[in-house]
Amino acid sequence: MSLEVTDLRIEIGGRAVVDGISFAVPDGARVGLIGESGSGKSLTALAILGLLPDGAVASGSVRWNDREILGLPDRELARLRGDDIGIVFQEPRTALNPIRTVGRQIGESVRIHEKVSKREALARAVVEAERVALPDPERLVSRYPHQLSGGQRQRVAIAMALACRPRLLIADEPTTALDVTIQAGILSLLRSLVHDAGMSLVFITHDLAVLAQVATHAVVLEHGRVVEQGAVEALLRAPSSPVTQALLRDATATLWHPETGTPTAIPDAATPRPARGSAERHPESTPDAADQGSAPDAGARRPDATPAGPAAAQDAGRRPPETGPDEEDTP
Ligand SMILES: Nc1ncnc2c1ncn2[C@@H]1O[C@H](COP(=O)(O)OP(=O)(O)O)[C@@H](O)[C@H]1O
Ligand SMILES: [Mg+2]
Repeated sequence: MSLEVTDLRIEIGGRAVVDGISFAVPDGARVGLIGESGSGKSLTALAILGLLPDGAVASGSVRWNDREILGLPDRELARLRGDDIGIVFQEPRTALNPIRTVGRQIGESVRIHEKVSKREALARAVVEAERVALPDPERLVSRYPHQLSGGQRQRVAIAMALACRPRLLIADEPTTALDVTIQAGILSLLRSLVHDAGMSLVFITHDLAVLAQVATHAVVLEHGRVVEQGAVEALLRAPSSPVTQALLRDATATLWHPETGTPTAIPDAATPRPARGSAERHPESTPDAADQGSAPDAGARRPDATPAGPAAAQDAGRRPPETGPDEEDTP
């Protein structure tokens, strides 16, 4: 189950916004697409899924299991999205219908893939909610999206993406809109879900520290082109392009060794940890953390709000780790 993107170009209004991108995601690989805002990450993901906005024209090749999927008819692409490829977006609100209970929405995702009754789908929704470590799943499935915290909504979106048991998950900045501690929980969840299911992952971010926690291979984009790609560990130790060097400087605190101010060993990405089950260990699954997460999204600290530059990043590294509550995930 491999993905191969070759010389992908996307034009909007005659302008090449993605300009010859190539990368591969072998079976079970975890690849990060990284670059500044506007570098073409989201459009690349949307092109893979056949979800480009009107007016965007893609050329080149996207092969899924050796089958060309760029330009497939909508119906076949929809089937592919239901069966093989799941997606999680930055803002879970966009994936969720505000006037339907989360149980019904997760259940509908199950029904795309499996012929089950509505009642069975609702029962499955509880199981799926449990799988993404949502607290009190039996009760939670009868709630509406606005009654959940930001982190919980993203867990629902992840449950919906995974309900079809995809072989590839594409996550486009899934934690960017979340508070840092909630972000750590979601990253940890994604990592264990991907590992346990043996899925491949394409993880999009502008934050190298975040990427290093989930991906083993990085593709660095600038202005719609690949400027560098390779093993995350190699990129962190010896970034060859100025873009990667800048991303390394801007990476949030987690990457920096508190004592020496140098990049730490790559957290967990290189060596997947043994499967671990469960809910209780995710911070948001405790009532306290869930309350904390229900603060308005506006209060979220975004990674791009951290001061840039090597000195700032190193100083940040001397603060207590911000990922504290999820102790298993601090390097
Ligand atoms: N619907 C659209 N119409 C016109 N231009 C767009 C549209 N979507 C994206 N672009 C442009 O394409 C470029 C890449 O966008 P995008 O893939 O969303 O970047 P990223 O996800 O890396 O921030 C940007 O310059 C953006 O302005
Ligand atoms: Mg984007």
